[in-house]
Amino acid sequence: MADKATLEFNGQKIEFPLIKGTEDEIGIDIKSLRSATGGAITIDPGFKNTGACESGITYLDGEQGILRYRGYAIEELAEKADFLEVAYLLIYGDLPNQEQLDKFNADITSHAVVDDDVKKILDAFPKSAHPMGVLSSLTSALTAFNPSSVDASSKEAMYNSTVRILGKFPVLVAWTMRKKQGLPLDYGDTSLGYVENLLKMMFKKPNEEYVHNPIIVNALDKLLILHADHEQNCSTSTVRIVGSSYAGLFASLSAGISALWGPLHGGANQAVIEMLEGIMADGGDTKKYMAKAKDKNDPFRLMGFGHRVYKNFDPRARIIKSAADEVLNDLGIEDPILEIAKGLEKEALRDEYFVERRLYPNVDFYSGIIYRAMGIPIEMFTVMFAMGRLPGWIAQWKEMRHRKEPIGRPRQIYIGENYRAFKSISERS
Ligand code: CMC
Repeated sequence: MADKATLEFNGQKIEFPLIKGTEDEIGIDIKSLRSATGGAITIDPGFKNTGACESGITYLDGEQGILRYRGYAIEELAEKADFLEVAYLLIYGDLPNQEQLDKFNADITSHAVVDDDVKKILDAFPKSAHPMGVLSSLTSALTAFNPSSVDASSKEAMYNSTVRILGKFPVLVAWTMRKKQGLPLDYGDTSLGYVENLLKMMFKKPNEEYVHNPIIVNALDKLLILHADHEQNCSTSTVRIVGSSYAGLFASLSAGISALWGPLHGGANQAVIEMLEGIMADGGDTKKYMAKAKDKNDPFRLMGFGHRVYKNFDPRARIIKSAADEVLNDLGIEDPILEIAKGLEKEALRDEYFVERRLYPNVDFYSGIIYRAMGIPIEMFTVMFAMGRLPGWIAQWKEMRHRKEPIGRPRQIYIGENYRAFKSISERS
């Protein structure tokens, strides 16, 4: 393998060094492109071929369906670790020993209260507000209560901000749901595990004891782990680019939540269930919707299908599909939309259009079915994704600042008008 790439431009040969990753991925380092060519840039809409950074957090191989956090396979982590261990792994690079985990947990727990004035902000939202908008606003509002932008070069300041947001975020998640449901706000019980307490804060009725169902606790723990990081996706890139201007951690996270909200990204988990319900209400004719998805004049897309990187299968979708079967079975729930989902998957996997374009179910195709079985309202699904992605965003933000990456500022090729002389209003037609 050569160690450089050569570009012929204006009769001149320009050489660029190659950057090789630990899994033999190759990047052509074009940092000197503009100076070597006299100003030419690359154009790559959607960054389909552009690496924004070197990162040591998550490895994924879209051809082989591999996903690893800090070297550990997602299948093993989902099976054997819990969410806080995975959060620690992503943020600090190694799985914690018992002492480290206990301290991490205790420090997070000590921050699991938000300023009481946050309630006033929440109160100002109408019940109709989408929980993702509320969550993004509340996360941004935390900046007002902790105004100093974290000093990323200080280990202690970075640690404090990390445990602070990991402590407060589940409160915000639960409260966005309770607000929508008109339930009084609840702080749960920090003697419980992180995920157990999240569930209690979400579901406890004011006049009843909340009794945990271990099937639901385990399933949510697994879902959060599966969503915890996914390298340079839209929301993570947003978090990194906002942070690259030295905006604070919470402000960057709030921007990431907004990016996640869209139906082509995290919002797909809500869109999938809405689509499956729509198909069911329309008589369950999956063939009709397959045809719509393939029709270029129809904006309909099969939500939960396709991925920018995975081209054979999404390993998270495999784990979630079998978890969906297990959870529904264990809870004794028969959900007709699970059958519609399986039917659609079966048809898509043998359909030329989907096979040719290498479109497979992604993480969002079956996750909503589990959330629904847990009793989580549909508009909260993407909020649950954000809860899972939080440690990944923190890890990526921290890495970006520690690597002293320059401010993110892409270039463009201008295709607008050339110079025109100003016309006074009476001269304009
Ligand atoms: N249904 C029908 N056609 C599709 C779909 C789909 N879900 N996804 C891609 N295609 C077609 C697309 O029309 C295009 O066809 P052609 O080559 O004829 O123009 C081809 O496949 C390539 O698609 P693309 O949009 O250029 O691919 P992309 O890498 O830019 O987009 C994607 C990836 C995930 C945005 C897209 O597959 C999609 O919109 N999927 C549905 C939304 C979804 O499930 N999003 C969740 C993604 S995974 C979790 C996450 O990241 O949050």
